[in-house]
Amino acid sequence: MDGSRELLRMVDVDFAYPGSRTKILTDINLHVDYTEFVGVVGPSGTGKSTLLRLMCGLLRPTNGKVYFKGEELKGPHPKISMMFQSPNLLPWLTVLENVKLPLLSRRDMSEEEKEELAMRFLDLVGLSGYASAYPRELSGGMQQRVALARALVVLPDLLLLDEPMSNLDPLTALALMRELEEMWFDSSLPPASVVMVSHNIDEVIQLADRVLVLKGRPATVVAEVRIDLERPRNRKDETFLKLVDEVMMLLS
Ligand SMILES: Nc1ncnc2c1ncn2[C@@H]1O[C@H](COP(=O)(O)OP(=O)(O)OP(=O)(O)O)[C@@H](O)[C@H]1O
Ligand SMILES: [Mg+2]
Repeated sequence: MDGSRELLRMVDVDFAYPGSRTKILTDINLHVDYTEFVGVVGPSGTGKSTLLRLMCGLLRPTNGKVYFKGEELKGPHPKISMMFQSPNLLPWLTVLENVKLPLLSRRDMSEEEKEELAMRFLDLVGLSGYASAYPRELSGGMQQRVALARALVVLPDLLLLDEPMSNLDPLTALALMRELEEMWFDSSLPPASVVMVSHNIDEVIQLADRVLVLKGRPATVVAEVRIDLERPRNRKDETFLKLVDEVMMLLS
């Protein structure tokens, strides 16, 4: 196997929350390659968010190991970013200050460089005009985009998205997804790879190269579906619809 193409690997991972005897995840073996977009689907409460927290080092496996670029991941890593389901912006900071936040402790960068980088990503998500606004002045969809800019500002190699569209109305969700798709495929997005959790199977099949189906109690990856469709993808395509059905079947 060509190990150099691999960005992240989980080997025989089991997980129970500290102090709890209930195993949430078991026997997780998976990998994420460089430049891959991986989708994760599974019923509510199966452990998808838990899986992402293990991938970013916020949680440590009970058994097994997580490797990032060939080295064991032992805690949060500066090149792994996570965008949580709710934007979690700090209300007392401006939009620009929120985006700059992950760069706070970077001594190798000047204030101007930080500002410039933060502005670049605000611009990318279409919000450069809101740099000095406060989060409360923004709609939910706009806040979500600020959170995306904040996740990107560290130039992550791996971007983890936990239901990035789920708090949005369908139209705003579609618009954000289109944006994500454009940024990703014209390679203006810095991350080498993305892992996205979503309840919305259409959304996942629209974006992913490969979909992992997480199921069971404790949960494990029960199936993997490769999405070999040309981009941009058309949701009304017969093959697209077949893949949606296939993933639905695997989930039920
Ligand atoms: N901090 C915690 N301590 C103990 N148990 C937890 C904790 N967080 C989550 N759990 C449990 O872990 C299981 C998986 O939760 P998780 O949030 O990972 O699921 P999920 O697949 O992301 O669900 P959803 O689709 O609703 O977001 C649930 O049974 C939940 O009760
Ligand atoms: Mg979740």
